[in-house]
Amino acid sequence: MLQDGKLYIGTSRKPDDTNNKPEYLELKFGNRHGLVTGATGTGKTVTLQILAEGFSNAGVPVFCADVKGDLSGIGAIGEAKDFLQKRADQIGLAPYEFQQFPVIFWDLYGEKGHRVRTTISEMGPLLLSRLMNATDAQEGVINIAFKIADQGGLPLLDLKDFQALLNYMGENASTLSSQFGFISKASVGSIQRELLILEQQGAEQFFGEPALKISDIMRTTNDGRGAISVLAADKLMMNPRLYGTFLLWMLSELFEVLPEVGDPDKPKLVFFFDEAHLLFNDAPKVLTERVEQVVRLIRSKGVGVYFVTQNPLDVPETVLAQLGNRVQHALRAYTPREQKAVKTAADTFRPNPDFNCAEVITQLGTGEALVSTLEGKGAPSMVERTLVRPPASRLGPVTEAERREIMNVSPVAGLYDEDFDRESAYEILTARAKKAAEAAQKQAEAQEASPQSSGGSRWTLPGFGDDEPAAQPAPKQPKARSGYQRETVAEAAMKSVARTVASSLGRALVRGILGSLRR
Ligand SMILES: Nc1ncnc2c1ncn2[C@@H]1O[C@H](COP(=O)(O)OP(=O)(O)OP(=O)(O)O)[C@@H](O)[C@H]1O
Ligand SMILES: [Mg+2]
Repeated sequence: MLQDGKLYIGTSRKPDDTNNKPEYLELKFGNRHGLVTGATGTGKTVTLQILAEGFSNAGVPVFCADVKGDLSGIGAIGEAKDFLQKRADQIGLAPYEFQQFPVIFWDLYGEKGHRVRTTISEMGPLLLSRLMNATDAQEGVINIAFKIADQGGLPLLDLKDFQALLNYMGENASTLSSQFGFISKASVGSIQRELLILEQQGAEQFFGEPALKISDIMRTTNDGRGAISVLAADKLMMNPRLYGTFLLWMLSELFEVLPEVGDPDKPKLVFFFDEAHLLFNDAPKVLTERVEQVVRLIRSKGVGVYFVTQNPLDVPETVLAQLGNRVQHALRAYTPREQKAVKTAADTFRPNPDFNCAEVITQLGTGEALVSTLEGKGAPSMVERTLVRPPASRLGPVTEAERREIMNVSPVAGLYDEDFDRESAYEILTARAKKAAEAAQKQAEAQEASPQSSGGSRWTLPGFGDDEPAAQPAPKQPKARSGYQRETVAEAAMKSVARTVASSLGRALVRGILGSLRR
């Protein structure tokens, strides 16, 4: 039943309910993407589990999100339960063997897995705007912020770096606007408020270093199995935008980092996108277009993307058209929208003369699905009514103790546990501010000692080098000391940006389709 180059999904049934034939997913078409849909409780997660198992056994690393905690059991050996054995007998899976899979648990919050982080810089303006649900005006400001940081060599690692940069932009809106485009102070303010909300939701943990290395989700074990990265997403799902944006960032990282490989014998990585509707739910058109583009292009990097969602209408048509391997579990058809979903799902299959797709979709039992995969030269196989195999790993969650044990022996244990706070925009801007403030203090003292030397209306900022072009016009003499310091911070940062921009012409960072950094 297990064959080289193929992954066993289950066994299809004839109209008289006898076994028809085993249904496989061909590994060489594993990068041609896939779709798993079905109403709640129809068997999507189990299907995801057996697909992940199959890929892992074939040496393909897998990344998936565990939305309800019930997928974690893939890291534990399965148990002979009556209903599972019954399914195995029914489809002729003999012997029904149990197996434990090499799992790496990840968690943005660092509770149920190794910490996953990225930096603001790496995430880029497009995804950050999406994360903050930014208006067009705010997005404009975010784009300018990245322009300043990318060109000026100000590393944006965590939320406080971004806050510092926004402060600086707010204070220098008019000067910067002439150079980078219009910066509305109101927009800066609202982005800052959004950032505070994100921080309160725990997103600050997600931004910083060490950032996740893509090579760590592409590991294989010594015995040649692909590691299955399981992202704990139960808590994350309470912030659906963060969840969606994070997975998009992963996708865009994979796209930017991995080399072209054409169509390999088997995928380099398979990426399951559970609750995929969150990705497209009122996403701006430009983002949907970019996602479509990434999905299309990432195939030749050997990455298969599998969307898992309740309703096939959740996925835009342009994306849907690219998903070659399909497992359609039961759908209900009470409301007009549900009926439309059934029709859409049925229409996308290569019909089988033995049955009416639309009718059967509403009659499928739990763990039963309409299956069509790519075959031959890459054409979809005729759709078959299929009983999905039972998993070899545990159905249901791991215990807390099991999770700890798996984390302790994980190949990335210890690599991501500690925050690493290197010098970045916040420190740079603060240090310059401090320096400038000290300089200002000195100057004030000097002025007190010999008032006549203060006659000139121009002055240089000590501590920023004598090579500065003839000093910029002096800031208005502020009355309060704090005000004075603020002005100086702005001045200092402005100079630093201007200088780095000048010295870095031609080596500004380049961003890819989804706005993350090009390597
Ligand atoms: N292939 C299968 N073999 C045996 N039992 C299955 C299979 N698929 C599903 N089941 C049974 O159906 C139950 C529900 O399946 P599953 O959790 O995969 O549904 P789901 O579609 O992911 O639901 P939800 O949308 O609520 O997450 C499982 O706990 C299991 O008991
Ligand atoms: Mg599920």
